[in-house]
Amino acid sequence: MQQLITTPIYYVNDIPHIGHAYTTIIADMLKKHRYLQGDEVFFLTGTDEHGQKIEQSAKAKGKSPQSYTDEISAVFRSLWDFMGIRYDHFIRTTDDYHLESIACVFEQLCARGDVYLGEYEGDYCVSCESFFLNIDSGICPDCAGEKKLTKIKEESYFFALSRYQERLLEWYASSEDVILPKYRKNEVIRFVESGLQDLSISRTSFSWGVQLPAITTKSINGESKTPSKQHIAYVWLDALFNYVSALGFYNHGACISPAPESKASHTQDNLKGFWQHATHIVGKDILRFHAVYWPAFLMSLGLELPKHIYAHGWWMRDGQKMSKSLGNVIDPRAFAQSYGVENLRYYLLRETPFGQDGDFSQRGLIERINGELANDLGNLLNRVLGISEKYTALVIDAPHFARAHFAQECEQIAEILTGLGENMRTMQTKTYIESVWKLLHIGNTAIAKYEPWNLFKQGELAKLQSLLCLLANLLLKVAHALYPIMPETSQKITSAFTRQIAPESYAHFITQNAYDTHFTLHKVAPLFQKIDSLLIPESSVESTPKSTTPDSSTKDSGAKSTSTAPAIAGIASIGEEIGISDFAKLDIRVGEVLSAEPVPKSTKLLRLQIDIGEQQPRIVLSGIAEYYTPEQLIGTQVCMIANLKPAKIMGQYSYGMILASKDTESLSLVRIDGRRKNGSKVS
Ligand code: MSP
Repeated sequence: MQQLITTPIYYVNDIPHIGHAYTTIIADMLKKHRYLQGDEVFFLTGTDEHGQKIEQSAKAKGKSPQSYTDEISAVFRSLWDFMGIRYDHFIRTTDDYHLESIACVFEQLCARGDVYLGEYEGDYCVSCESFFLNIDSGICPDCAGEKKLTKIKEESYFFALSRYQERLLEWYASSEDVILPKYRKNEVIRFVESGLQDLSISRTSFSWGVQLPAITTKSINGESKTPSKQHIAYVWLDALFNYVSALGFYNHGACISPAPESKASHTQDNLKGFWQHATHIVGKDILRFHAVYWPAFLMSLGLELPKHIYAHGWWMRDGQKMSKSLGNVIDPRAFAQSYGVENLRYYLLRETPFGQDGDFSQRGLIERINGELANDLGNLLNRVLGISEKYTALVIDAPHFARAHFAQECEQIAEILTGLGENMRTMQTKTYIESVWKLLHIGNTAIAKYEPWNLFKQGELAKLQSLLCLLANLLLKVAHALYPIMPETSQKITSAFTRQIAPESYAHFITQNAYDTHFTLHKVAPLFQKIDSLLIPESSVESTPKSTTPDSSTKDSGAKSTSTAPAIAGIASIGEEIGISDFAKLDIRVGEVLSAEPVPKSTKLLRLQIDIGEQQPRIVLSGIAEYYTPEQLIGTQVCMIANLKPAKIMGQYSYGMILASKDTESLSLVRIDGRRKNGSKVS
């Protein structure tokens, strides 16, 4: 089947950061998965080059918008090249064919009777290029780093978005996985149900954008109105249509580059077919544009709607979204250079469940490389190669291999493989990778259990060959399953067994769960090098150090943070020595959790009401949402520091801090051994 997979097109106001790399890596992962499943995939990415934000950035650098966008767009391209991301087409919204499309799209939306001329009066956020009404604070509710809204009043064309409310709701209801994760889909539904306002789709107060033809339309009260100014397309109208202009809709032809992972070499004629099955990968911040405005535009024009919109979470630093203005961005090139592209891909895809935010940690990355990649995966391959070299001269020949010999292992393998397809289909990428690691665990355990060295000693050569055969098949299954995540590593694994990765071999080893019985092995260099210290100085990548407690807000509470020393094993070094009088300053109390609820827009925080024997329960914000559900907490007792200065976290005050212990695996609350009266002191 022809499939289109898209990344968002990236703003060229600044150079790429890890968030951009993350979006692209997810799209590339999906592309590789679908390629293995036999689909013909067209992978589209590019840069979003118009709008006020870019115009202002260019001006601030003393450059013309065109030369500035040329420069930054090339940086994105070169990053993807460096990271081995192969796209079928890289669109720039300043490309001629795209300009042609946008003007044509605008005419057609007008011809459909969905556009009218009016005046927009309200707020605008230049940073996320969005219109807002009725925001008293004057600060963009969607952007990180307190971006100020600008008041604007200008002639504008409007798109009659409100007409599409019902059809949009029907569309969301039409398919389970049109928007994933489901909780994001529900947010979109609530947004649409709350009522849609018509959308301003042109600007007149600056010039860096696609010039629109002057079209006379009816105003909202039915009079014919002709524009008094040159309008340029609202940057989101301009940007969203990249997904179809690149395929040749509404223009006379985009330029097409070769498609290394696709079966066919695409020609202009067959490109439109890819639109029949489109999947957009977006960050949660731009879901509204993709899940509301975009399908409404498409409905107006009578075009097919995307089949899937998958919204991922943000990479954060110390609980804050990364952004240049906050000075906490991670440079993907530097990390890929130091730690390897494949390792970085693995970390980003493995660390957080798709859709949720993650906190980027260099130490976390090293732990995954040393533990999971080097120990679990790299060692298994080494051991299999080593055993075979020693006892079977690098030839595995097990004509009588039968799954019944390893019934338990083979049943587990079959079960895991069945789940993998579903994991990817529902974008449970973390679970997908964890399942691959269960396969590795089966392999590592089998070596310990069947002791190949003893089989050899006892002359049980057929059994030894069978065991190696099981392990070789298992590693080939792992390699195929891992290809979307770590393509180079997977190819190294298959090459050790003189095999290659292709849709046919994927069908063989994964879909049909077949087992081969003969292999010639080649020794390959160890897949991973262990890393024993940070490769990038902390100061250049980590902003404020984090305390080990989950809910401390060191900045606001005035409390000093403790250790900053790298603790690779995930165990914090012992802090500064203190006297008993220092300890006595802490007033720790036993308290009962009366209520617990998630803090809006935070995946980590819970808002707790805790009874510590005072007249009113204390409100405490605690970063434990990933480890405890509200139900698990309500009615239980916790230990809390009751004399901590109140701290403001995500706009709300927290009046205390509950104690917990966290290691690399999970987090547990500090509890007392038996129930005590609420408010009892802990000393
Ligand atoms: N130009 C628009 C997209 C138009 S698509 C028709 C845009 N560009 S962007 O450069 O600001 O962001 C592109 C993508 O990067 C978004 O999916 C966004 O979510 C993602 N990220 C930007 N910062 C991020 C993080 N800190 N973490 C993860 N991804 C985030 O929006």
